[in-house]
Amino acid sequence: MNAPTPKKMFIRTYGCQMNVYDSERMTEALTGAGYEAVDAPEDADLVLLNTCHIREKAAEKVYSELGRIRKMAAEKAERGGGAMRVGVTGCVAQAEGEEIVRRQPLVDLVVGPQAYHRLPAMLDALDGGAGAQVVTDFPTEDKFEALPQRAQRKSPSAFLSVQEGCDKFCAFCVVPYTRGAEFSRPVAQVMTEARRLAASGVREVTLLGQNVNAYHGEGDGGAWSLARLIRAIAGIEGIERIRYTTSHPNDMDDDLIAAHADTPELMPYLHLPVQSGSDRVLKAMNRKHTAEDYLRLIERIRATRPDMALSGDFIVGFPGETDADFEDTLALVEATRYAQAFSFKYSPRPGTPASTAEQVPEAVKDARLARLQASLRAHQTRFQEDCVGRTMPVLFEKAGREPGQLVGRSPYLQPVHAYAPETLLRRIVPVRMEAAFPNSLSGTLIEEVA
Ligand code: 5AD
Ligand code: SF4
Repeated sequence: MNAPTPKKMFIRTYGCQMNVYDSERMTEALTGAGYEAVDAPEDADLVLLNTCHIREKAAEKVYSELGRIRKMAAEKAERGGGAMRVGVTGCVAQAEGEEIVRRQPLVDLVVGPQAYHRLPAMLDALDGGAGAQVVTDFPTEDKFEALPQRAQRKSPSAFLSVQEGCDKFCAFCVVPYTRGAEFSRPVAQVMTEARRLAASGVREVTLLGQNVNAYHGEGDGGAWSLARLIRAIAGIEGIERIRYTTSHPNDMDDDLIAAHADTPELMPYLHLPVQSGSDRVLKAMNRKHTAEDYLRLIERIRATRPDMALSGDFIVGFPGETDADFEDTLALVEATRYAQAFSFKYSPRPGTPASTAEQVPEAVKDARLARLQASLRAHQTRFQEDCVGRTMPVLFEKAGREPGQLVGRSPYLQPVHAYAPETLLRRIVPVRMEAAFPNSLSGTLIEEVA
């Protein structure tokens, strides 16, 4: 007997790396339930939007995308292609819940980030004639345990979620509401997944969490810190590189800083958002640290690991931010010399404390963002140019745009293009950097490898 033809699924991912990881796990769960992933939504039997709530008008953008999918579904039905099931997952699903089905009756599934393991059962219920399925509670069972194991992977680099949620309640942020309270996966579970990834050819893992350096998963002898977890993962045969993101300055403990010196697998790149350089604004944001605390922390990190590349997030135009506050942010940027950074205009998120405060005028936000970005860009350019002439280990991940080229990553997370044979895919090889671009480098293999 022939196996039934798999149904086609298309998952569109928005937002952060946690969502990228979740989309991979959903793909794996649904592959086991008779679906295969396709690259375009037009002919898909199941379309999932894995959404992000962090940007302005996030929900409105999801509704307009659903409008486009509704047309696509009608065209598919007209072609005789059958029905298209449509689901919304991720943080907008968590925040909007039932409202999504009310506003767009086309939607069959609304699933919050803690309930992805229930997707196959929800699809079965739909097949059985049930109405739209909405799950936005925080189920008691562990979704990570309930999801199927990781599949064989093409890329030598993989994400691994170790922590979810946040207890910090920064005044601008929706994450504590959409992803819930802080939760760390047990050490044994993380180690099993890391070993499986290594066995399937993964050389680099990026440990993910909204507040990853607050990791405190249950392990031998009690709760393990992120540093302890990193050292254990570094001992796994085949794992050659470890990264982690995103961190909060207040959870950057001495042991984690020390790990950057004593664990060669831990890469010298740290995403450590500060949001503002003004103590007044930091206080209003409920960040619970000062600009000086942050700068002293950076000094300690650089004393331990002098080549550490730093990355950050900034918000301009937070309610109450004055010109003087903004100048403090520019001064912090000068002092920190970021290799990379992300900057945003404050946008009120309903339900968060800052959303009801008096807003900074849009034109002021625009002007501040332009100045901040010019400064961040100048630092990034300097960092990129300083790499030219250096030889760095590059983990080659995939074919490049030009024939004969491969693309990989430097220790500092920069994409690196080089002419290199495909036999070097998934391997870490020394590359001499020849030219710098805004977001990448190009290099040549050094003679021993070429
Ligand atoms: N407005 C603007 N930027 C925000 N971020 C989070 N919430 C908001 C908001 N309401 C930014 C922060 C965070 C990054 C992921 O997104 O800088 O670190
Ligand atoms: Fe977006 Fe934050 Fe949710 Fe990630 S956790 S999807 S960045 S809102």
